[in-house]
Amino acid sequence: MQLIDGKKISLEIQETIAEEVKTLLAQGKKKPHLAAILVGNDGGSETYVASKIKTCENVGFNSTLLRFPSDVSEEKLLQAVEDLNNNDDVDGFIVQLPLPKHINEHKVIEAVKPSKDVDGFHPINMGRMVLNLPAYVSATPYGIVQLLDRYNIETSGKNCVVIGRSHIVGSPMSILLAKNTKVGNCTVTLCHSKTKDLKSFTTKADIIVCALGSPEFLKADMVKEGAVVIDVGTTRVASSETKSGFKLKGDVKFDEVAPKCSYITPVPGGVGPMTIASLIMNTLLAAKKEIYK
Ligand code: GUN
Repeated sequence: MQLIDGKKISLEIQETIAEEVKTLLAQGKKKPHLAAILVGNDGGSETYVASKIKTCENVGFNSTLLRFPSDVSEEKLLQAVEDLNNNDDVDGFIVQLPLPKHINEHKVIEAVKPSKDVDGFHPINMGRMVLNLPAYVSATPYGIVQLLDRYNIETSGKNCVVIGRSHIVGSPMSILLAKNTKVGNCTVTLCHSKTKDLKSFTTKADIIVCALGSPEFLKADMVKEGAVVIDVGTTRVASSETKSGFKLKGDVKFDEVAPKCSYITPVPGGVGPMTIASLIMNTLLAAKKEIYK
C-alpha cells in the first residue's frame, strides 16, 4: 500500500507557482490577486478560507477576504460579487460554500463573471469543461486528477466508482475521469444515495472516489484487493484528543481499508491540500488570462 501524499504534492505545486510569480513580477506585471467571500462563521468554512488566504501569501499572491454575517441579504451579497467582477485588480474570486439557506446559491454562482470564477462552479465553466473547451475546472476534482497523474496511476480502461453526485465534486469528477485524456478513459459509475447494492459496484472498482461526506462510510468489505481509494470526506467530529475539540474524518474507514489498497489518500493530508493548490493554479491562469483571453 502506498500513501498518496497530497500535502507534499501541494507544496511542490506551490513552489512552482511561487517561481512563476517571481517571473511575472520581473516582467513588470502585478501580483496575482485572489479574493474570497465568506458568509457566517461555520468552523469548516473558516478553516478552508484561512488556508486559502495563507497559501496566497506563501506563493506571493495578493489576497482579499470579504466577510459577511450569516444574516446578510442576498442583494448585498450579489452587490459584493458585482463589485469583485468590476474590480480590475482582482484576477479571480470564490464564494465559500455552503451559503445560509435564505440565499440562493445558484443565483450567487451565476453572478460571478466566468473569467474570474476560479472555483469553476459557474455553468459556463462547467459546460466548457464538459465540452473540452478551455475552462476553470473545479478545484477538488482537478486536484484529484493531479494526484493520479503525479503518482502515475493508470486510469485508462479501469473501472472507477465515484460515490456522491455533488455539483462541486462527484459530478465533475465522474466527467473528468471518463474523458479521453491522459488521466481519464475510465469506465465510470456514479453512485449516490439511491444506488441499490452499492457494494456490488465498489467491489468491482479499480479506483474509488468517495465523496459523500459521511465519516468512515467505506469499509474494507466494500473494496477489492489492490484498489486505488481517494477519500474526499472532511467531516469534523468531536474529539477529546485534540486542542480544537474536533478531528477531521474522511469518508473511508482508513485503518481497515488501507491494507487492501495499492494507493490511498489520508485525511487530513490527501485531497484537501490539493483543492487549495488547484485553486491557486486556477488563479494564476486567471492572472495570465490563459482561459479567457
Ligand atoms: N465548499 C466546499 N468546497 C468548496 C470549494 O472548493 N469552493 C468553495 N467556494 N466552497 C467550497
